[in-house]
Amino acid sequence: MTGEVALEAVDLRRWYGGVRAVDGCSFQVPRGQITGLIGPNGAGKSTAVSLLAGSIRPDGGQISLLGRDITRLPNWQRARLGLIRTFQVSRELPHMTVLDNLMMAVTPQPGESLWSALLRRPQWRRAEREMLVRAWSLLEEFGLAPMVDEYAENLSGGQKRLLEMARAVMPDPKVLLLDEPVAGVNPRLINEIAGHIERLRDEGMTILMVEHELSVVERLCDSVIVMAQGRVLDVGPMHHLRQNQAVVEAYLAG
Ligand SMILES: Nc1ncnc2c1ncn2[C@@H]1O[C@H](COP(=O)(O)OP(=O)(O)O)[C@@H](O)[C@H]1O
Ligand SMILES: [Mg+2]
Repeated sequence: MTGEVALEAVDLRRWYGGVRAVDGCSFQVPRGQITGLIGPNGAGKSTAVSLLAGSIRPDGGQISLLGRDITRLPNWQRARLGLIRTFQVSRELPHMTVLDNLMMAVTPQPGESLWSALLRRPQWRRAEREMLVRAWSLLEEFGLAPMVDEYAENLSGGQKRLLEMARAVMPDPKVLLLDEPVAGVNPRLINEIAGHIERLRDEGMTILMVEHELSVVERLCDSVIVMAQGRVLDVGPMHHLRQNQAVVEAYLAG
């Protein structure tokens, strides 16, 4: 379905003392597309992603997911509704295996009572088997199957980025928020990760990605949101943004 909005921010605000990290941002993320979020360091991109995912609370504004107001929902409830993020710095569980890292991405969340968990045990076992199958297939897709029993701390930087993405995809999100998915990654792996992101989009996922690497933004993103100093400067495809003098000065020229 074209024209449908997956995720929307209206007048979103988050200040840290005098620092207006996000200062009245409104934007829409269209369903089934890859939308870019770019801007200079300190523009407020990661803060915006944290607000959308519910990792932090806004000081003002609204967020809606597929038409539903999620502003007051904690991050795990947003995750249940299909909104999942990755972090700028990978957050794998270092002392667990690659497989357990994926399994932990779908364990019961706070709010699900121990009793209901125990009572539903047989169903749980079945669910766990299904999760194992899914974990294995994702490990294959992301090229991590050979590392399945390796402790996450022993992975290379690039493999950690792949694991971060596989963990985020594990609960089968509708909307995926990626914070600099190719940061610090070598060119061959950048290409590979970009391919994974395209594949997820082709499978129907909606993606919002913060990215510094403009070649990747150019290749993947249908539309791009430009932030500077906590505000949205412009929105549009890259060829449109290159015509905007304010955008060129704030970001593209630098
Ligand atoms: N937890 C925090 N405490 C204080 N200031 C913060 C915090 N997080 C972000 N900031 C500030 O908010 C601004 C935006 O940061 P950030 O969202 O990380 O920008 P970006 O991801 O675009 O580089 C920066 O000035 C940053 O220093
Ligand atoms: Mg950032």
